[in-house]
Amino acid sequence: MYNRENFGSKLGAILAAAGSAVGLGNVWRFPIITGQNGGAAFIIIYVLCIFLLGLPIMISEFLIGRHTHANTAGAYRILSNGSAWKWVGRLGVFTGWFILCYYAVVGGWTIHYTYLSAVNAFAGVDAQEYGNIFTSFVSNPWLPALWLLVFIGVTHVVVVRGVRSGIEKFSKVMMPTLFIIVILLVVCSVMLPGAEQGIKFLLVPDFSKVTSEVVLQAMGQAFFSLSLGMGCLCTYASYFDKSTPLAKTALNVSFIDTVIAIMAGFIIFPSIFNIGMDPNEVGMGASLTFISLPNVFQKAFCDGSLLACVFSVMFYFLLFVAALTSTISLHEVATAYVSEEFNVSRRVGATVITCTVAVLGTLCALSFGPLSGITLFDMNIFELFDEFSGSILLPLSGMLIAIFAGWTLDRQLYRDEISNHGEIKAPYFKVLIICLRYVAPVAVCVVFLDKLGVFDFLK
Ligand code: PHE
Repeated sequence: MYNRENFGSKLGAILAAAGSAVGLGNVWRFPIITGQNGGAAFIIIYVLCIFLLGLPIMISEFLIGRHTHANTAGAYRILSNGSAWKWVGRLGVFTGWFILCYYAVVGGWTIHYTYLSAVNAFAGVDAQEYGNIFTSFVSNPWLPALWLLVFIGVTHVVVVRGVRSGIEKFSKVMMPTLFIIVILLVVCSVMLPGAEQGIKFLLVPDFSKVTSEVVLQAMGQAFFSLSLGMGCLCTYASYFDKSTPLAKTALNVSFIDTVIAIMAGFIIFPSIFNIGMDPNEVGMGASLTFISLPNVFQKAFCDGSLLACVFSVMFYFLLFVAALTSTISLHEVATAYVSEEFNVSRRVGATVITCTVAVLGTLCALSFGPLSGITLFDMNIFELFDEFSGSILLPLSGMLIAIFAGWTLDRQLYRDEISNHGEIKAPYFKVLIICLRYVAPVAVCVVFLDKLGVFDFLK
């Protein structure tokens, strides 16, 4: 056992874990895939995925962390009794660290866009120009690297301060701030003329759009959005105290994550419909966030007006906070691993991780500019990181975690942890075990095989 801190309160624990879950995925993927794939019909499937797959795996990650009170690699080593399953924990740590390297680059982009919004740089810009603004920023020889270093620097400062005075305190300030910003943005957005159409697009159910492909997307999105499969929740749970109710905490975190994702749709679609844009043409991910939306917000809130400026600043600041609380959790996985497994202080552990991420992240950050010539399979460094983690590392590690939790963890240990050694009732225990043994591993395997392209021949 390691000598370590705990979260000071249950609320702190929930907010920290919710901070990990609420990230870029909630804003730049969920609303668009929901709108395009059947609205409320998609949301129903998504929520089912959360219950059948997300919650069982989240609870498992929680209990693995809390039971062992160790970093993710240590936790799996302790529970695997010398078997090869110990590699699952190490894979999780590696995956988290790897994702951090390029996720933080996008975090840097959010700072730049907050800055551009604040200096009113989007006022009066022609719709076609937004693509050029983004391209010239990401291909700049040093600016994306500078913002990456700032972003990872802020992450470092929070992580170094420790679990209670760093992560917990920060989450307790930043998560409520994030909720307030989301609410303000939703209020402004839904008051726009034409907002109802946007809300309809997001919510009116269309079951005819639900195909097996859509179900796969929902599973993948639920998995990523809940930060499963890379040790974040396992590491945070290792700081839970023994009275923290695991299932209830998981439910709270999933609830917050899903509500924020749906509200992000309320922010985005009213403005898109207000300016008469086709919601199927706004793109997803970076192109949605950094090319379509700055234009949409300017036009919807009177180009050049103070309201347009304030709205944009709040939106990019929201993305910054969402990304930051996620990178903090990714950083913590790796920091806890280095400091505990190599017996060094938290400061040294965090510094090692920050330096490695700064170097690899810089390569990613500059891969649209000076390093754009370095490619493999037609992808630049950033795209390689994104593709390798999204299509291989994350689903592989997720699949192994699901199988490990369902098939090798001791049932009694499970029961004890879920019920806090008999203190809370767990009437759902049997259902949970069935989901964990059968539903979750099969579902995650299917997502994994799909990402690998194994099913492509069926299409
Ligand atoms: N859940 C985050 C999002 O929705 C991404 C993330 C995944 C963060 C895993 C940390 C760990 O964007």
